[in-house]
Formats: sequence, C-alpha cells, structure tokens
Amino acid sequence: MRDRYAVVGHPVAHSKSPQIHAEFARATGQELEYGRIEAPLDGFERTVEEFRSQGGKGLNVTVPFKEAAFRYCRSLSPRARAARVVNTLVLTGAEVFGDTTDGVGLVADLTRNLGFELFRKNLLLMGAGGAAQGVVQALLDAGVARLLIANRTVSRAEELAGRFTGASACGYDALPAQAFDLIVNATSAGLADEAPPLPEQLLGNGVLAYDMVYGRETPFLAAARRAGARTSDGLGMLVEQAAEAFFVWRGVRPETRPTLAKLRAALRGS
Ligand code: ATR
Repeated sequence: MRDRYAVVGHPVAHSKSPQIHAEFARATGQELEYGRIEAPLDGFERTVEEFRSQGGKGLNVTVPFKEAAFRYCRSLSPRARAARVVNTLVLTGAEVFGDTTDGVGLVADLTRNLGFELFRKNLLLMGAGGAAQGVVQALLDAGVARLLIANRTVSRAEELAGRFTGASACGYDALPAQAFDLIVNATSAGLADEAPPLPEQLLGNGVLAYDMVYGRETPFLAAARRAGARTSDGLGMLVEQAAEAFFVWRGVRPETRPTLAKLRAALRGS
C-alpha cells in the first residue's frame, strides 16, 4: 500500500495541497497518496487519531488547527517550539512529531522566487495571529536589520515580539515614518476584503508588499500597487512550505518552480 498523507483543515475543500504534493510525488518518483480531510471544529484530535489508526504517515495542518496541532504533538522541531504553531505532522507508530514549515516557505519564496535579499533589511510584519507566529523566527534567522510587528490589538503584537530576540512591536497608529523594505501582511483582513490600517506613505516606491493570502488581489496589495510598490501574493509561500513538508516526510526536496508556474497559470486562467 502507498504511504498516505493529507491536509486537515476547516474548510479544506479549496486547498491546493493535494495538487501540489501530487506534482512533487510525480516529479521525484515517490509513491504516495495525498488527500484532504475536513475535521469538525471541535474534532481535530479525533480526526488525527483516526487517520493515524488507519496507518496515515503525515498531515499538513491548515486554518484553524495550527495551534491545536502544536498542543497535540508529543515532540516538536525547534522551529515549531519557537513558533507555537504546527503545520506538518509526522506520524510514526505512537510517535507524533510536529514541525513548522511556513517560515522557511516564506523566506524561500522571498529570496529564491522573488529575488528579495532579506539580510540587513527593515521589515514590517502585520498581524500577530497564527500566520504571523509561524514566520517570525525564520525572518530573524535571515539576518534582517529590524523586524517590527504591528497589530490591531497591540498587546498581542507585544506578546509575540517578546518571545523572540530581535523583534519589536507597536500599533498601526504608532508606526514610525521610516521606510520599510518589506511589508508582510499576515493578518486575515484580506479574507474579509479589508486591509490593516497602514499609513499610505509607507507603501511607496521601493517597498515589496507581500500578502500571505493568494489567488486574489487583497485591498492591501491593491493599495500597494496604486502607491507604486512591488507586490506579491502568498502562492509561492504555499508551494515552498509544501516542499519543505515533503522533504520532512520523504527526505527528498522537490523542485518548486514548475509547480508554482502551473498553479499561477491556472489561477490566471480562472
Ligand atoms: P491567523 O491564524 O490567520 O493568523 P488569527 O489567529 O485569528 O488568524 O489572527 C488574525 C490576525 O489578523 C490578527 O492579528 C488580527 O488582529 P487582532 O489580533 O487585532 O484581532 C488580524 N486582523 C484580522 N482582521 C483585521 C483587520 N480588518 N485589520 C487589521 N488586522 C486584522
């Protein structure tokens, strides 16, 4: 029987992970199956237990279960322990190992796909929820000069920044006028067709505005484009975090560019 993997979330019907992992498996000659599982909002652990008892080897975890996955794991990678969110589960017998590949996925997309060098750059990260938590350590590890976390609820940004040496926090009304090289939107505002209250002057020429949401131009990206900034959605991060999860499971690193190009073309066509 082929090794079984899946993505678990709620909702999960539109997840592109099955397509991405099928492409990776084909390209690397790995024999595996990859499905999607919608867990009830109060039934994450139950769902994982069932998948495990059926011999499942690994899961990708998506919204809203990344914190529940962190609590569920019996052992954790250092990056998952720092992030306190888990998006990749490795299931071996009774062992449940949790990892977080979103941070390296974002950094790989920025550096390899977008040609953006993070070393000594000034970064603004918007949001302090699960999505933001998953990427702070990887951005700091890339040697940025400054990582400022802004959030609507300032105390959440302060709590998050306080966990990492080198990060600081503020509210949107207290943002410095100083230019940032990169502004990452890790809020869920775009999903509600809203944008965080970012002062327009921070979006001028020379900034890379990155939104973790993919497949549509969020109000944040639209404002950045109008202001002359370079923009990117999070499709590349999605593919890169998947490649890292594939590597964690299979020990083989798939090429990401062909898969990213295919997904991008499909989104343009739709
Ligand atoms: P996720 O796992 O997607 O990060 P989350 O943990 O619910 O989801 O966090 C959502 C993030 O988006 C939070 O940082 C939230 O800000 P608050 O902590 O102040 O709630 C942010 N967010 C959501 N809608 C927003 C909006 N319209 N403007 C600004 N920030 C918003």
